[in-house]
Amino acid sequence: MRRRRIYEGKAKVLFEGPEPGTLVQYFKDDATAYNAQKKGVITGKGVLNNRISEFFMLRLAEIGIPTHFVRRLNMREQLVRQVEIIPLEVVVRNVAAGSFCERFKTEEGTALPRSIVEYYLKNDELGDPLVTEEHITAFGWAATQDLDDMLHLALRINDFLSGLLMGVGLKLVDFKLEFGRLWDEEEQMRIVLADEISPDSCRLWDLKTNEKLDKDRFRRDLGSVAEAYQEVARRLGVLPEA
Ligand code: C5P
Repeated sequence: MRRRRIYEGKAKVLFEGPEPGTLVQYFKDDATAYNAQKKGVITGKGVLNNRISEFFMLRLAEIGIPTHFVRRLNMREQLVRQVEIIPLEVVVRNVAAGSFCERFKTEEGTALPRSIVEYYLKNDELGDPLVTEEHITAFGWAATQDLDDMLHLALRINDFLSGLLMGVGLKLVDFKLEFGRLWDEEEQMRIVLADEISPDSCRLWDLKTNEKLDKDRFRRDLGSVAEAYQEVARRLGVLPEA
């Protein structure tokens, strides 16, 4: 069946869903980094991220985190609820890495005194700048209540996923979340977790060796990129049969 394409991102495509208020989220093998200056393909990534993100969304729903996820449809697609995406990337950091190290000249791997939550504006032209609550509320990207909800959800997600991943020998260094607004029949709005949670959007290090098992392997040309994603899927028990 040919479905209407609603939006094409760097790693995913959104199609019109089978019922009103739903979308089909298709996971591509395409990878980009550094605001799409670096481009490539990680063969099989879409299949793995579809499974890994499904797994995380289902576990989070079990602890009462509202998400856009409905069900996985096939190897590369999942059915999700259509939400109004809040134009922010919510990053939670437990250990210094990536742009945090560049900004503060911190050594990679330094444990942070507590989990730090940051907001970035989703804007490719501007290169997703770091923004404060003041910018967010003044420009109306989100209301104070929305921000409060996102902060609390992000911290709960961090606590839960950190423990879950530690159980399979992985350290959750940092990750990025996106949220959306969803209205129910009574026109009540609530904030729900959207997008995906996968090795594209998380930094995951082996607990014992600190080996990187995430997109940093692609960003930094470390090799064995697909193998790293497979290893994460294997540890979570969601590696598809070959
Ligand atoms: O690059 P930076 O250190 O700010 O990234 C923090 C976390 O957010 C990393 O886990 C990274 O994979 C994720 N991220 C993302 N999409 C972006 C920017 C960061 O998934 N556009």
